Amino acid sequence: EKGGYASFMLKEIADQPKAVADTLLGRVGGEEGALRLDEVRIAPSVLREVDKVVVIACGTAYHAGMIAKYAIEHWTRLPCETELASEFRYRDPILDQRTLVIAISQSGETMDTLMALRHAREQGAKVLAICNTNGSTIPRESDAVLYTHAGPEVAVASTKAFLTQLVACYLVALYLGQVRGTTWADEIRTVVRQLSEMAGAVERVLETMEPVRELARSLVDKDTVLFLGRHVGYPVALEGALKLKELAYMHAEGFAAGELKHGPIALIEDGLPVVVVVPSPRGRSVLHDKMVSNIQEIRARGARTIVIAEEGDEAVVPYADHLIRIPATPTLLQPLVATVPLQVFACELATARGNEVDQPRNLAKSVTVE
Ligand code: M6R
Repeated sequence: EKGGYASFMLKEIADQPKAVADTLLGRVGGEEGALRLDEVRIAPSVLREVDKVVVIACGTAYHAGMIAKYAIEHWTRLPCETELASEFRYRDPILDQRTLVIAISQSGETMDTLMALRHAREQGAKVLAICNTNGSTIPRESDAVLYTHAGPEVAVASTKAFLTQLVACYLVALYLGQVRGTTWADEIRTVVRQLSEMAGAVERVLETMEPVRELARSLVDKDTVLFLGRHVGYPVALEGALKLKELAYMHAEGFAAGELKHGPIALIEDGLPVVVVVPSPRGRSVLHDKMVSNIQEIRARGARTIVIAEEGDEAVVPYADHLIRIPATPTLLQPLVATVPLQVFACELATARGNEVDQPRNLAKSVTVE
C-alpha cells in the first residue's frame, strides 16, 4: 500500500501534485473560465447576503484556515476570522443568519470542530465544510460540503490533505468573489490558470529535496528549531513547527517575523537553526524587504539561517546559511510550494532521530474527543 515508499508519510508527500490537480478537477476552467462549485449547495442569493465569514478548524486544518482568511478578505472584501474550533465554541461567538462558517477537517470526525459547527448552526449560521472524507460526520451535519480530493491520508501528520485544503479555500474565496461580484471574471480566470500550474510547481519542489534531507540529518542533535513567516508565510511557519513537534518531538515554534522584536528575538543564540519563509520579492515587495531585514537581524545574533525563497530572489543570498529554492508563485498561492520543504524536513529529521513517522507517540489520526 505504501507504493514502495518507506512510510505512508513519504508516499503522501509524493502524492501531493496529483492531490492538488484532483482537487481542481471539474471545478475550474468551465465556460468562460468561471468557477463551477455545484456541490456548494447554498443558494447564491444566500451567499450574497453573507456579511461575515468565520473559519473554524484544528491543527493543520487551522493553518489552512489562517491562509483562507487572507484569500477570503482579498477576493470577497468580507470580514473573516479564523479560529481554533476548541476556543470558538466556548467564547460565546457572535453569529447569525448572515454568517458563513467554513469548517475545515481532513477526517470529518474531529470533535472540537463538530461541536463548533453545531453551535454555529444553532445560532442560524450557514456552514460549509471542507473535508477529505466522504460521508463523515462534519459534512453530514453541514449545509454544504466541498470535498478535497487528496485520497485517503493514513499518516498521522497531515500533508497532502493540507495542500488540498488550501486549494479548496482558494476556490471558495474566488467563488464567493464571483457570486458576490467582488472579483472580476478576468481575475478569476487568471487565478484559475495560476492554480492549475501549482501541481507542476509542487512537483518541481519535490524533485529538489535532497539538500533539505541532508540539512535535516545535520540537525539531528539540536533541541530547538524556530520558524518565521509573514503574511501567508506565517501560517506556513506554524505548520512547519507543528510538523517538527509531532514527528521529531523537538521544541519547534513558529512566529510572525514582525513579532521578533516584541520578544522572540531574545531566544536567538549561537547556532540556533531558524527557518525563514520569505515572501515573493515581486508583488508586495515591502513584505519581502522587511523579511530580509529580519534575516539580517537574527543572523547578526548568531542564528543559523535556513531560508526558503523564490528562485531568482538574490537579496537573501548573503544572509542565508542554507538556501532552499521554491518556484515563483503569486503571493497568496505561495504556501502550496513553501510548505513542502518543511514536510520533508520534519519527516527526515524524525527518521534520523529514530522516530516512527506514520504513528507519532501520543497522537491519533482523528481526535474524536473534546
Ligand atoms: O481531521 P482534521 O483535519 O479535523 O484534524 C485536525 C487535526 O487534528 C490535524 O490536522 C492534526 O493537527 C495533524 N496531526 C497535523 O499533522
